[in-house]
Amino acid sequence: MKVVSVNELKIGMYVNLGKGLSSNTILEEQFLIQSEKQIANIMDQGIEQVAVDPNKSDIDVADFDDAGPDMPGDGDFNPLKNVGAELLEIIADENAPPEKKAKAVYDNSIKMMHQILERPSSSNILQGKEMISNIVDHILVDDETASALTQITSHDFYTYTHSVNVGMYGILLAKEVYKDTDENMRELGAGFFLHDLGKCEVPRDLINKPGKLTAIEWEKMRMHPTYGERILASTDHLSETIRPIVVQHHEREDGSGYPHGRKGHHIHDYARLCTIADVYDALTSERSYKKSLPPAEALRVMKDEMISHFNRDMFGHFVKLFVRH
Ligand SMILES: [Fe+2]
Repeated sequence: MKVVSVNELKIGMYVNLGKGLSSNTILEEQFLIQSEKQIANIMDQGIEQVAVDPNKSDIDVADFDDAGPDMPGDGDFNPLKNVGAELLEIIADENAPPEKKAKAVYDNSIKMMHQILERPSSSNILQGKEMISNIVDHILVDDETASALTQITSHDFYTYTHSVNVGMYGILLAKEVYKDTDENMRELGAGFFLHDLGKCEVPRDLINKPGKLTAIEWEKMRMHPTYGERILASTDHLSETIRPIVVQHHEREDGSGYPHGRKGHHIHDYARLCTIADVYDALTSERSYKKSLPPAEALRVMKDEMISHFNRDMFGHFVKLFVRH
């Protein structure tokens, strides 16, 4: 049996949580990891390391570092660095097909966002931003991987999955709108990924609550742009590019949004881009309380029923991302 940090978990590993851990959680005692969602579920329980059975695993686990008993306190251990290094390796592999690269970008980004949202420390945000820079660079130069990314859909419920989706769609849309010329693209990418950072201060049961929120709950939910701004300011990551995205991504073109009810050009262009990516992902993602819409249907709803919320020009560019396939 090998002890592995949860950040090292991979599909194909056979984990054994033991009776103690599994009885306190919804997880089974032993199982083969078959999806990233299962890894996220383990992380969600606050578990830091687990035992992996090399004999029952589908992949070779011999190369993974044995976490050992003192892993969590190890000052040199940086989970985000591990995630980033692994991603760079796959991106650099010239023989890897675009679909595989896109999946690696996506899966590693989910792990990254999970860690940032669970612990939005300055160093975690910094590491995350470095990783986002690499992702943005890659999306800008590699059209094939970028195309493959628009094909990936998610059925996860979590804020970090949503963050990654909006991060990806936001970068793809900014690429389409600015035609690669915006020198600010890396910072812009970071803003899209981090747009909902403030949700880490909103109670989790409220974020995934089925049905309508009460007035008080809604009030709390509407605070997340302000919370996000505050976290980024206190960790010294609130750039002039990121700020409008985090603060204004729920403003709507017709003034019906929050927190300030800004209208039209009073909403920053970067936030307008984020809004489109955000709404599209909300419509196409499955939640505990609603089904997901297929991409074409989501675009139709946005055009026919919600167009007053968006900048029309930008929405036109967004549709183009999907028409090519
Ligand atoms: Fe939001």
